[in-house]
Amino acid sequence: MDGSKGLEALGAEARKFISSPKKILIDGEWVNSTSGETFEIYNPATGQVVAHAQSGSKEDVNAAVAAARRAFDDHSEWRKMSPSNRGKLLHRIGDLILKHQDELAQLESLDNGKPVVVAKVADVALAADIFHYMAGWTTKADGGVLDLSVPFTPGTEYHAYTKREPIGVVGQIIPWNFPILMAAWKLAPALACGCTVVLKPAEETPLTALRLAELIQEAGLPKGVLNVVTGFGETTGAPLASHPGVDKVAFTGSTEVGKLIVKAAANDLKKLTLELGGKSPNIILNDADLSKAIPGAASAIFFNQGQTCSAGSRLFIQDKVYDEVVAGIAAYAKGLKMGPGLDPSTQLGPLVSQNQFDRVSGYMAAGKTEGASLATGGGRWGNEGYFVEPTVIINAADSAKVVQEEIFGPVLVATRFSDVDDELVRRANDSVYGLAAGIWSQDVSKIHKLVPRLRAGTVWVNCYNIFDASMPFGGYKQSGWGREMGHQVLNNYLETKAVCIAY
Ligand code: NAI
Ligand code: MG
Repeated sequence: MDGSKGLEALGAEARKFISSPKKILIDGEWVNSTSGETFEIYNPATGQVVAHAQSGSKEDVNAAVAAARRAFDDHSEWRKMSPSNRGKLLHRIGDLILKHQDELAQLESLDNGKPVVVAKVADVALAADIFHYMAGWTTKADGGVLDLSVPFTPGTEYHAYTKREPIGVVGQIIPWNFPILMAAWKLAPALACGCTVVLKPAEETPLTALRLAELIQEAGLPKGVLNVVTGFGETTGAPLASHPGVDKVAFTGSTEVGKLIVKAAANDLKKLTLELGGKSPNIILNDADLSKAIPGAASAIFFNQGQTCSAGSRLFIQDKVYDEVVAGIAAYAKGLKMGPGLDPSTQLGPLVSQNQFDRVSGYMAAGKTEGASLATGGGRWGNEGYFVEPTVIINAADSAKVVQEEIFGPVLVATRFSDVDDELVRRANDSVYGLAAGIWSQDVSKIHKLVPRLRAGTVWVNCYNIFDASMPFGGYKQSGWGREMGHQVLNNYLETKAVCIAY
């Protein structure tokens, strides 16, 4: 077998981790699940099993939540830790991620299929960065002093103030498309705010969350503050989402499961934030610099094999440049070097799983039956693993499944428009989603007129899929509730207490 496909391509550290038994983390101890059941972890480049992980049960979730509740107790080491020391701890976690960046990138590539080079400079680097960024907020969750003027208690004065307090025990359920980064986006702010956590990684990609948890322990997090239970959605995720001991749930994944989480949390009105799907419009105006817009729009969809919630999956091209853009993106797609993620020359890896391969292939077939045509791609690549060709669909109706539904693969639907004000804005917003949007233009007035009319949580102009710890990310409409990153994320993990003292 080609050495870059399998475990042979891993460095010594990653190889050591892969060959060690995978456990779940409860109250500072690595243990087996109570059921004794495990599940298989596949290398998406080959379909071969590379490891096994524990299948967490309801009992494991109960034990993890109980540990997180104890660690959140008033008298716990964690609650007594000063904000400054919490910040230093978060800094140490960020530093440890960077120290192990090669190992983590290799594990991520093996588990998810993404190109190892990208995993290192994007996923792992951003994961470290959110811990460093959030370390700065531990000391800045300040309240305010209020001047009251109460009409019905004349003569009494008040000293009133607000105080921010951690929301409590947090259940965090994350997906497989950016496994370590989603773990970091969830954990860093929760820990910065002083919460305790039960984290459930996706069953497709549990490896880097487990390794990250080891590094977090090494950084000195008190026991029980972070618990990690691997397992499936129905058997591990659902009991966590509905657990009465959980104060808040943070979820990233499909809109479909997001709706189930809302129902599960409704029983006891848990606080909830959701980061869900998208079908984001990416818009190229006639005056765009095509030398940037063509590769920019191509990587907006093909980055991470299209498995990006913010992917620029609906490309709107103004009529004068339509032919040139479609031809340019098709050529870009054909030029992408496909291969196993662990091969450092790979630009487009496999999809994450057989399931995702089937789902994406189904959409490619649906595109054909709905009368659309292909500018490039449309099929499987190679004869092993979960690879699909980078694909550009044209001439699809706005109502077609491939235009309306999130495909979550390297499949672009490109369409032409002529009028910006009436036609484009209406069609771009014709989606149940509202996660992101892109604009490519050199005309600053056109850009400023368009930005406020797009119903999306992020608008990228002359760039796409740019993420930074300081920039809030989240969705309008069915793309979610709340924001991750930036100072806005602190609201997800803090309560506000108003204190009123009469004197
Ligand atoms: P999913 O939403 O089922 O999985 C995400 C996480 O939710 C996983 O950890 C999973 O175990 C958990 N989960 C599943 N069912 C659950 C339940 N009933 N209660 C609690 N947790 C549960 O996503 P899936 O099935 O892997 O992918 C399906 C589609 O979802 C993709 O094709 C894509 O369109 C979308 N998706 C969007 C993501 C995003 O970043 N917004 C990430 C992953 C998937
Ligand atoms: Mg699912």
